[in-house]
Amino acid sequence: MQKIERLIGISSLLVLSINAAVAAEGVKIPPVPQAEPPGQLGETVRLGRELMQHTDTNPLTKAFVGNKLNCSSCHIDAGTTSTVGTFIGSATAFPAWSKREGVVESLQDRIANCFMRSMNGMRPPIDSRAITAMTTYMTWLSEGQPIKQNPIKPVTPFFANQWPDQQLPPLFKQATHANYVAGAQVYAARCAACHGADGQGQTGFPPLWGAGSYNAGAGMSKPVQMGTWVKQNMPLGNPNLTLQEVADVSLYVDAQQRPEFDIREHVPAKAIETGYYNAASVDDVETVKGNLKALGLDLDTIRGDKAAAH
Ligand code: HEC
Ligand code: HEC
Repeated sequence: MQKIERLIGISSLLVLSINAAVAAEGVKIPPVPQAEPPGQLGETVRLGRELMQHTDTNPLTKAFVGNKLNCSSCHIDAGTTSTVGTFIGSATAFPAWSKREGVVESLQDRIANCFMRSMNGMRPPIDSRAITAMTTYMTWLSEGQPIKQNPIKPVTPFFANQWPDQQLPPLFKQATHANYVAGAQVYAARCAACHGADGQGQTGFPPLWGAGSYNAGAGMSKPVQMGTWVKQNMPLGNPNLTLQEVADVSLYVDAQQRPEFDIREHVPAKAIETGYYNAASVDDVETVKGNLKALGLDLDTIRGDKAAAH
């Protein structure tokens, strides 16, 4: 266990040095503020960071988590990297338009929605202590930066143009079963040592598919979003895949089984009945098959399941 923690520690250092390179490509991200504010406000910033890192075990959040992930599984180092997934600058974009939810959403809304999608859990009340602390932490990460509400998408201004990566959709749209096979090979060579040959993860390394991972309504379950993130963040400490390898491995991972998403199972019934829940529709149902279909791909053909049946 200690060994694994040390390995992660080393990886984080490597990530930091790579971040400098990514930043050099044109995205300049301000540093994390040096110190937390005094008093209770600082305490709350620290609580928010702790909740990002131990979402699945902290008593304030664990009841709302339905898988084996933490926020920091994807928002690495609690969202303080210079890569896609960073929280630096995010707070300045809110309230922002969300095409997915069909409404303007607050930062609190955005955080709560991650619990039901990425964390496959229940949407916590936005006035809870947990959401308040996480919002406080994220706002602190944007201290000193100008507010610029985003009328197009709810993301940090530093990656608003690259998120998602515009080079990826064409690679997915022309994908075939051969890309899935190539993706399996990339996975075995570059991912399996940490995430397990079966994608179920191991201590210190989160699962990439199956019941313990993100559901089919999560941003990461969309191959284009996943590719955008993987390109800058994985393999951890050494994100050096070619764009084609990124596309293939993301296709492979997002074609595996994971929980379906039906929004009605993740929002408290009362919030739906009373119309209190801030979304245009409560009929959102998302599946692995649908996520591939959105790119013009047929899941069975990509996986080769049809060919195998003959
Ligand atoms: C499985 C990976 C994953 C996990 C776990 C996850 N997120 Fe995210 N998150 C994403 C992705 C991918 C995006 C951007 C794409 C999108 O719009 O869905 C995102 C975007 C966000 C944003 C918008 C900020 C920005 O600048 O992009 C916020 C806020 C956020 N997540 C908060 C959280 C919180 C809080 C948790 C834990 C409760 C969490 N996320 C867990 C993958 C994840
Ligand atoms: C050196 C170990 C290591 C390797 C190799 C690695 N990862 Fe990861 N990965 C991690 C760790 C650790 C996390 C969680 C980050 C954290 O908690 O700080 C993670 C998180 C993730 C996540 C988000 C969380 C989840 O479970 O969905 C995805 C997606 C992911 N990795 C994909 C990949 C892919 C694809 C590859 C291969 C191209 C890969 N990783 C290779 C260690 C690794």
